[in-house]
Amino acid sequence: MEQQKRYGHFDDQNREYVITDPQTPWPWINYLGNEDFFSLISNTAGGYSFYKDAKFRRITRYRYNNVPMDNGGRYFYIKDGDTVWNPGWKPCKTPLDFYECRHGMSYTRITGRKNGVEASVLFFVPLKKWAEVQKLTLKNESSEEKKLKLFSFEEWCLWNAATDMENFQRNFSTGEVEIEGSTIYHKTEYRERRNHYAFYHVNAPIQGFDTDRETFVGLYNEFADPQAVMEGKPRNSHAHGWSPIASHYIEVTLNPGESKDFVFLLGYIENEQDDKWESLQVINKKKAHALIAELDTTEKVDKAFAELNAYWDALLNIYNVRTGNDKLDRMVNIWNQYQCMVTFNFSRSASFFESGVGRGMGFRDSNQDLVGFVHQIPPRARQRIIDIASTQFPDGGCYHQYQPLTKRGNNDIGGGFNDDPCWLIFGTVAYIKETGDFSILDEMVPFDNQPGSEVTLFEHLKVSMDHVIKNLGPHMLPLIGRADWNDCLNLNCFSMDPNESFQTTENVTEGTKAESLMIAGLFVVTGKDYVALCKKIGKADEAERMQKAVDAMIDAVKKHGWDGEWYLRAYDFYGNKIGSNECDEAKIFIESQGWCTMAEIGAEDGMVAKSLDSCKKYLECEHGMVLNNPAFSKFIYEYGEISSYPEGYKENAGIFCHNNPWVIIGECIAGRGNDAWSHYAKILPSYVEEKYQTLHKVEPYVNCQMVAGKDAFKPGEGKNSWLTGTAAWMWYTVSEFILGIKPDYDGIRIDPCLPETATDYTVQRKFRDADYEITIHPNGQQKGVKKIVLDGQPVDGTVIPYSAGKHTVEVTM
Ligand code: BGC
Ligand code: NOJ
Repeated sequence: MEQQKRYGHFDDQNREYVITDPQTPWPWINYLGNEDFFSLISNTAGGYSFYKDAKFRRITRYRYNNVPMDNGGRYFYIKDGDTVWNPGWKPCKTPLDFYECRHGMSYTRITGRKNGVEASVLFFVPLKKWAEVQKLTLKNESSEEKKLKLFSFEEWCLWNAATDMENFQRNFSTGEVEIEGSTIYHKTEYRERRNHYAFYHVNAPIQGFDTDRETFVGLYNEFADPQAVMEGKPRNSHAHGWSPIASHYIEVTLNPGESKDFVFLLGYIENEQDDKWESLQVINKKKAHALIAELDTTEKVDKAFAELNAYWDALLNIYNVRTGNDKLDRMVNIWNQYQCMVTFNFSRSASFFESGVGRGMGFRDSNQDLVGFVHQIPPRARQRIIDIASTQFPDGGCYHQYQPLTKRGNNDIGGGFNDDPCWLIFGTVAYIKETGDFSILDEMVPFDNQPGSEVTLFEHLKVSMDHVIKNLGPHMLPLIGRADWNDCLNLNCFSMDPNESFQTTENVTEGTKAESLMIAGLFVVTGKDYVALCKKIGKADEAERMQKAVDAMIDAVKKHGWDGEWYLRAYDFYGNKIGSNECDEAKIFIESQGWCTMAEIGAEDGMVAKSLDSCKKYLECEHGMVLNNPAFSKFIYEYGEISSYPEGYKENAGIFCHNNPWVIIGECIAGRGNDAWSHYAKILPSYVEEKYQTLHKVEPYVNCQMVAGKDAFKPGEGKNSWLTGTAAWMWYTVSEFILGIKPDYDGIRIDPCLPETATDYTVQRKFRDADYEITIHPNGQQKGVKKIVLDGQPVDGTVIPYSAGKHTVEVTM
């Protein structure tokens, strides 16, 4: 095995990951901001900020896939005599005497030391504020006086991140700034249709500034050696067009032992349309002044930081487990929940693998994200459900994505992904079970955001189910449409033009026989949920109608979806089997095994057990279960994008962390705790972190979308970190199916599925207005609750009935 270098470690006490070497195998990033103003920040302070929408309201500029990697960010240059360095090592890359980056819950602290000076920067977005705070503390640890020259640096994006990197014939002439005291304002396009601007402020007098990139950096220099910094002389440049930036220049004298704080603030302001100007071409700065005044001292910033920490304390107190296994506890209690919040906020839009210009909020993605987030802030989950449903079409079909700024369906991406509607049921049911709030079903929600088209949310669920039933193929299985969960299984696409996207070009519906077993399983799982919901709200007829459809689907799968040892994956356009032993390659796929085992289709005939065994036999490897096996070795025109990837990557037999949990849940439902755990631990970041920091490459504290599979050139190498449905699915799996604490309409269902080696553990669970302390005694059992005692009284069945207040629960298996 390749020697695995370590770049950092967990600090559970502080809920931080501590990076001790700036040259990580890939930038290891964190997210700042929880609601409107967001930033991405790497371990060397690279990244960018935006307001709500990474495409349409980008505040600072970033260079993707650049040389060197991770170029652009908030940089502090410290000139100490002839030495110029940055606390985060980059961009100067001057060797530091000490470096540390601590990524925490919505904050990052980067500390560097050089020649007796320590520079520590705390980055965070205060709650409810549209600004990123950068609190820089400079300390003289030497025995001599230090005279330092400090330069800050941010580069403005001209708001639309897509045109910002394309339309230079216009861009190079539009840039505008204003300078007032220690604040630099960015007001490009404010004179026309925008009523927003940004600013970069520091709470100290400055001795100079720059706002024009070329003047500051020098046309043939780089971020690593900006002319102004190298010469120790700001130019006081005023940008007109080209590329506006913001750089403050401050002369700092520090006595031995002395330290000074500087609060830098990157802010975003919106003005009323009729209150934009102070005078001709001078922007109205009232709101900026007010925002600055709220955060212009160390005390105010420390208070805002304490509030942020308290916010996270409260969020992470909702579900807390003590198993005695640090690797499990830190993922459940800290990182998995944190990643769920981040994916809820961004869906798949902005990471170091998603540029933020291509993708809005996914319909299916956002519904799945809900399941990881709903226990944290239910009102936000509620609003999200309404937003998503508002993009649905009257026939139950959906836009595949919508833009967070406008909340409108994205026409360029279109629809036709036939799994999409089912996910609305998945998300809504999770919300109601968590909150008991059935009133959401009566909310009036439009179709395609058209005023006048409003029907109840329940109607939206109904048309979602009906969309599947009305689109069945020759085997009475769901037609796949453009694709199902696997965006790359494009069975109706038939594209030979490399300039077309497999997902937005042809979707030949005429004459297609392409059916999906994944949607079939998904339909049965969500259909059972829908039936239970209907019964709960007194819609007995609707429950009966849908139960019939679910039963018919189960029959169809048993008749036409079983291959002998596993469930088929699909039928293609012509009605040929996909994912069958009869196929040359890709004989077995994971998605249908996951969904049909979760749906328990044919369990009584041994299908579930056989399917799960086949996953172990054919899909499992050291790093998790691959998506299909064997990998495709050649492009198949009838299958589309899936076969476009080299073996072992992405949807062609990569380990999609997202769908491993489906099989794990299937294992849990079947009561196979040892197998469930062994699959789970393989993709649990804390286990991977211990063994494979170099190979894994991406952040070791969160899941990534895909780990290269067994057929890949480098099995075990991770890609697409952070924004992935994996976060929610890992959470759902461990919290509800492994540890077995399942919110239900009338209370909490207790049904763990554990490895035989599990020992006693305690879950602290806030649920609606109750606070439960639940201790489980597994007694070597993998599954099966024998006895539940609630506040000293035995309970019938496995549901602890909900009642407000504090409760103690003892569970014996
Ligand atoms: C990727 C998928 C992704 C899709 C849409 C494909 O290229 O492989 O994972 O869902 O693009 O962004
Ligand atoms: C990523 C997409 O965001 C998700 O919606 C899709 O299901 C997976 N890729 C698999 O293709």
